[in-house]
Amino acid sequence: MKLFVDTAIVEDIEELNDYGLIDGVTTNPTLIAKSGGDFKSVIKTICGIVDGPVSAEVAATEFSGMMAEGEHLAKIAENVVIKLPLTLDGLKACRALVSKGHKTNVTLCFTANQALLAAKAGASFISPFVGRLDDINIDGMDLIQDIRQIYDIAGFETQILAASIRTPNHVKGAALAGADAATIPAAVIKSMARHTLTDAGLAAFVQDWKSAGQSIL
Ligand code: G3P
Repeated sequence: MKLFVDTAIVEDIEELNDYGLIDGVTTNPTLIAKSGGDFKSVIKTICGIVDGPVSAEVAATEFSGMMAEGEHLAKIAENVVIKLPLTLDGLKACRALVSKGHKTNVTLCFTANQALLAAKAGASFISPFVGRLDDINIDGMDLIQDIRQIYDIAGFETQILAASIRTPNHVKGAALAGADAATIPAAVIKSMARHTLTDAGLAAFVQDWKSAGQSIL
């Protein structure tokens, strides 16, 4: 399973990339606004840090605008993935951009039928929003399972990129449900590595090693 970081904060991406823990990056207009940086410069910088896919979202909401913006974003770097909203215009733009050889990520997916249409449109990635479904009392993980089943039955190659991930349990759930990837806030990725028993165990090993009075090097 691939792990993407869901942020436009360059320092966080550099840090996680140095650990060798991330396969790609996703951004959205909200994350770009939070970063405070210029959209195209931020995307260019991120694409220079990671080798994997970097999702950059169009701002237009109608077909021709999405096409123009998508083509423009794709020119920034080879690893740009054009992120499009799951609307009829977004699906049309997805099909057209894929036909021109671009990679796409169809976002704001909340139902299995939406995911089916994104796959029909040739999307490279579909982004089902787990956390936002949980927010309205619908189990987001059920959606991941349904999409996995539909894609496997139909033989669709679109990758399931679990999004709106808020907790380590969301990551585990998405992995168990068969997501190809999850895009995760930086703080959640770091918290996945932590356990109090790991910390306590390590402190005891450090202490006991000191008492042993030995050295490895
Ligand atoms: O990738 C989409 C994601 O950033 C949305 O997350 O927490 O705003 O629902 P959230």
